[in-house]
Amino acid sequence: MDNTVGIGIIGDLPANRTRVLERYHRMTEIHISRFEAGEVKIARAPGRVNLIGEHTDYNGLPVFPMAVDRDIAAVFSPRADRRIILANTDPGFTERSFEIQELIPAYSTGDWGNYCKAAVQGLLDFYRQKHRDSDRFCGFEATFDGDIPVAAGMSSSSALVVLSALIFLASNGLDLHTTPSGRLELADLLARAEHYVGTQGGGMDQAISLMGQSGHAVKIDFFPLRTRSAPLPKGYSVVVANSLVKAAKTAEAMDKYNRRSIECRLAAAVLKKIFSETYRRDVPIFLFGDLKEEKLAVPDSEIWKISDSTFRGDPYTLGEIAAILGQTVEKTAQLYCKRRDGSIFPEPEGGFKLQQRYRHVIEEGRRVEQSIQALESGDILQFGKLMNQSHSSCRDLYEISCEELDRLVEISREAGAVGARLTGAGFGGCTVNLVRDNGVESFIRQVIKSYYRDYLRREDREYGSMLFPCRASDGAAVIGETNTRRDRI
Ligand code: GLA
Repeated sequence: MDNTVGIGIIGDLPANRTRVLERYHRMTEIHISRFEAGEVKIARAPGRVNLIGEHTDYNGLPVFPMAVDRDIAAVFSPRADRRIILANTDPGFTERSFEIQELIPAYSTGDWGNYCKAAVQGLLDFYRQKHRDSDRFCGFEATFDGDIPVAAGMSSSSALVVLSALIFLASNGLDLHTTPSGRLELADLLARAEHYVGTQGGGMDQAISLMGQSGHAVKIDFFPLRTRSAPLPKGYSVVVANSLVKAAKTAEAMDKYNRRSIECRLAAAVLKKIFSETYRRDVPIFLFGDLKEEKLAVPDSEIWKISDSTFRGDPYTLGEIAAILGQTVEKTAQLYCKRRDGSIFPEPEGGFKLQQRYRHVIEEGRRVEQSIQALESGDILQFGKLMNQSHSSCRDLYEISCEELDRLVEISREAGAVGARLTGAGFGGCTVNLVRDNGVESFIRQVIKSYYRDYLRREDREYGSMLFPCRASDGAAVIGETNTRRDRI
């Protein structure tokens, strides 16, 4: 290792200190040889695995993820001008460069540079509201390096958004990310900012990447955003398994996600109409999460009596929904079926599945609350059961699973997981498994054999990048600085 590069780290280094420092050294050297920078800073943003609470966030119901010990890190230096240059240690991500301007035009869908543009655009909009002109900001150059599996449902993209935001803030001497309330505000604004890339996601990924806590999972509630940490159960490990089905970032893949959120919005609009007619007043339902006694001033028992019997099992045409709402089809589409670029999401063949989506989201929200109770009372088997139920609901009601994920989940349970489910947006990506510590080795052996070798028919030399235990890590931060002229380790 070149001793002319010294790294000063703020806070504790993890147990694998040598490996971490070697990584930062390597990144710094690449950065310096590309950009000829002097003093540079280092920041990291972790990926996440969601233990339970899938597709609840954008519906105003809680999630229960943890930040993991896999992250995207960056070495960066501010520039004197307004240019932003993004380099990556992975040659698959070619260099990107753009100017700070009022409206930053996006690259084509799926381009990695869009996640940085999303963060910068979001922060420019935020500070514009606070009367700070965009021409007062400087750009930066950054070299990124990540070990979160990409397109695997572990939020590598939101980690990149969060990290880019920290780099922008630190380069401009702004401190939004340095206080707990500022971090919540930042998480909230970045959740909206990420819509720039075309997915109408919720706020889980950005919030956990910022608010993660070592050794803990974090319950996150939305609107307003708030978090509460809960220690992970002793004696158990969280093991992630990649199905190796890519949860791609194509426009088509994003539409699968967006379809679910549109169906939920349509269903909430129907509920608003039914409740408002029943109570002869404007009942404020915009999201499923609004179905609460204190929000609606309607007793809980009444709420569930009405809403559980609102939808029939057969899917709805847009015409039928418009008729219930007493609106034209065009207006209904304009109000509820718009993509971010303003185009209208076409009516899916077979119709909108309102009842199925409603049931999944409401029941999943309840499972999150029950999981935390189970965890707090030490009933880990109950926690595992709820994870298993969540998978069934994701498969049957929300329809975000696929054959490979279903098979992987079955194999994982046979291999000893007390709970196994898909995690993240779905349509591929990873599963999350709760496994007794003393069973992790045999679990890994069995899943390698039954899933990767026998089912996928893959022979790899090692499977550590596909199947691995995760530790809960702290949230994103600027973690150090490098002085290229002195050794400070
Ligand atoms: C993606 C989104 C999140 C969340 C999950 C599903 O990861 O970015 O906001 O909706 O899918 O739970």
